[in-house]
Amino acid sequence: TIGTNQAAKAAGKLYFGSATDNPYLNEDATYKAILSNTSLFGQLSPENAMKWDATEPEQGVFTFTNGDAIVALAQANGQIMRGHNTVWGSQLPSWVSSSGFNNATLISVMQNHVSTVIGHYKGKIWDVVNEPFNEDGSFASNVFFDTIGPTYIDLALQAARKADPNAKLYINDFNIEGEGTKATAMANLVSGLKSRGIPIDGVGLESHFILGELPTTIQAQMEAFTALGVEVAVTELDIRMTLPETNALLARQQTDYETVISACNAVEKCVGVTIWEYTDKYSWVPGTFAGQGAADPWDEKSVVDVDYAQYEGIF
Ligand code: XIL
Repeated sequence: TIGTNQAAKAAGKLYFGSATDNPYLNEDATYKAILSNTSLFGQLSPENAMKWDATEPEQGVFTFTNGDAIVALAQANGQIMRGHNTVWGSQLPSWVSSSGFNNATLISVMQNHVSTVIGHYKGKIWDVVNEPFNEDGSFASNVFFDTIGPTYIDLALQAARKADPNAKLYINDFNIEGEGTKATAMANLVSGLKSRGIPIDGVGLESHFILGELPTTIQAQMEAFTALGVEVAVTELDIRMTLPETNALLARQQTDYETVISACNAVEKCVGVTIWEYTDKYSWVPGTFAGQGAADPWDEKSVVDVDYAQYEGIF
């Protein structure tokens, strides 16, 4: 058998990767060793280490320790990094979210954050703006949209390009993986950015799926995005189920993973697939969706087990 990253490369993709977080890397050598196996993983995403609350907890005070540790690991392993993320309504320190900054001040605070973080982590793929939409395709309310208006997206992307002309700039969201109102809103945003000359290189498809409920139009929607002149990536794939897991559910899950990976393989400008942690041991799902879990390819109890064997066969 060949590993997932080897298979992705054989299919012409840049990488197959996983999200990771510092506590697990620091405490679990087995976890870290598997993550460092580049037959399996050619790319890392920081689950939390590069978010605003982690990188600028106080105004103008930047802390890159955790993000730097993940970049150092990726470099040592020869893995590509996706940076995640610079501008988002969540995991914001209160000095930003409840500051009451006026338009001009918040613009400069946001530009400074984007340019300092992306300037520190040069040469990466970046989720510059995260989750800008509501389910109905309107812009999500957050301090940036509420204060600056939709232009905050343009300004964030321009600041990112200026900070690192070589960074790949993405907008990332969920429930845009299949055709629908929210995906259309993202496509319209990308078209608008392009027509206004705002830099945009890619659309990130988070892909936090529910087992058996994948959209049927994943490939078509990827093609709709790439037709606009951007690349796409599956950025946060996991496929959750109502617990307990059964062999039947795991078999269905394998099929669902295959569906997503095949869609990316079939679309030339889909650059790669990232799973949002490779092991259920550290998945965010049970803590967020009550009663659900087993969303990652590796099993909860032992890092390498049944799911791993299944997963290797995916391609
Ligand atoms: C999640 C992390 O996995 C958790 O550890 C954290 O507590 C909350 O955020 N969409 C995103 C990710 O873009 O940043 C989120 O990550 C999952 C949903």
